Amino acid sequence: MTANTMRDRSRTLRVSRVVEETSDARSLVFEVPEADREHFAYRPGQFLTLRVPSERTGSVARCYSLASSPHHDDDLTITVKRTSGGYGSNWLCDNAGAGTEIEVLPPSGVFTPKDLDAELLLFAGGSGITPVISIVKSVLAAGSGNIVLLYANRDESSVIFGEQLARLAARHPRRLAVIHWLESVQGLPGRGQLQALAAPYAGRESFVCGPAPFMTAVGDALSSAGTPRARIHTEVFTSLSGDPFGPVPEPAGDTESGITVPVEVEIGGRTHVLDWPVTTPLVDLLLGRGIDAPYSCRDGECGSCQATLLQGRVTMKHNEVLDEDDVAEGYILGCQSLPEPTGETIRIEF
Ligand SMILES: Cc1cc2nc3c(=O)[nH]c(=O)nc-3n(C[C@H](O)[C@H](O)[C@H](O)COP(=O)(O)OP(=O)(O)OC[C@H]3O[C@@H](n4cnc5c(N)ncnc54)[C@H](O)[C@@H]3O)c2cc1C
Ligand code: FES
Repeated sequence: MTANTMRDRSRTLRVSRVVEETSDARSLVFEVPEADREHFAYRPGQFLTLRVPSERTGSVARCYSLASSPHHDDDLTITVKRTSGGYGSNWLCDNAGAGTEIEVLPPSGVFTPKDLDAELLLFAGGSGITPVISIVKSVLAAGSGNIVLLYANRDESSVIFGEQLARLAARHPRRLAVIHWLESVQGLPGRGQLQALAAPYAGRESFVCGPAPFMTAVGDALSSAGTPRARIHTEVFTSLSGDPFGPVPEPAGDTESGITVPVEVEIGGRTHVLDWPVTTPLVDLLLGRGIDAPYSCRDGECGSCQATLLQGRVTMKHNEVLDEDDVAEGYILGCQSLPEPTGETIRIEF
């Protein structure tokens, strides 16, 4: 893969409209030209990466989950909540209007249900509702699963998509139950309260997105209620520090050290058998061989490249996404993984 093909991944999209959701959150609706529809095809829960202009650094890259649903909405919508003192979110809320053009990478991410017919338990805190409402709309429009959503907010005025959720619940009373939790009324949700709420639905596929303490409390509650780790899916909102819009470096030959480890990688239903140089991250190896690996930041910060290690050992250079339990379950970040030469073939599934 050359620098040019990497640059070709991004497109400039035009904002068609801006919706004031709350006093500090705005939705940006993007027009997608017919020719780029396939490039921007997405699954509910995925996100876009935007290049936000900056006079200081040229640009910063920021990820925003799609609040729209591929099964329900024609346009792509992201919802940006202002971060106090933050650069990117405030730039977007202050400067993006109808007609603004923004460079965008295609949808990415693994926070997406495999099966829209499954029963789901969803937890959203604040702006964490954005990928979650995409999942809700998609399941109701294109699946048969039932959904319980706990949605926590500071107070009533900070609830994003409150009316939309009320309309959906009224239209699908047997399939969608929304439980609002207001910190101003009930205090922060405690582990015991979350566990009591999760207990009747233990074992369901569970999706969690919100501030870090909320996600930790929900994760603990789900585990205590008996939901297996593999069914707890989380999306962590962080800011990217690198530049995923820059060129992908050529993989370092075969190789600086000359040491390679045999690897079988299953991706998109195909198995690739490769020699993996010990100094080359897996995603770089795959891209260098023309294999369409999923990625966005390539810095261990977004989780797009998450895969499962089925056999062998790898070392991750950097990881801001997976916790100890995830790693113990075999999850890895492909963009940060280097092979460990243990004598056995490594097997990985994306
Ligand atoms: C997968 C994913 C999905 C997400 N989805 C959403 C979502 O749906 N909605 C949402 O609101 N957020 C979402 N986020 C979070 C979002 O990407 C940002 O982290 C968030 O908006 C805060 O960014 P910020 O730039 O405003 O704040 P910060 O990252 O805190 O900004 C401060 C940083 O900007 C730098 N900076 C300050 N001034 C400048 C300047 N002039 N030029 C360059 N740099 C400067 C500072 O050095 C500092 O590092 C998501 C994140 C991820 C990873
Ligand atoms: S591509 Fe973002 S963590 Fe690997």
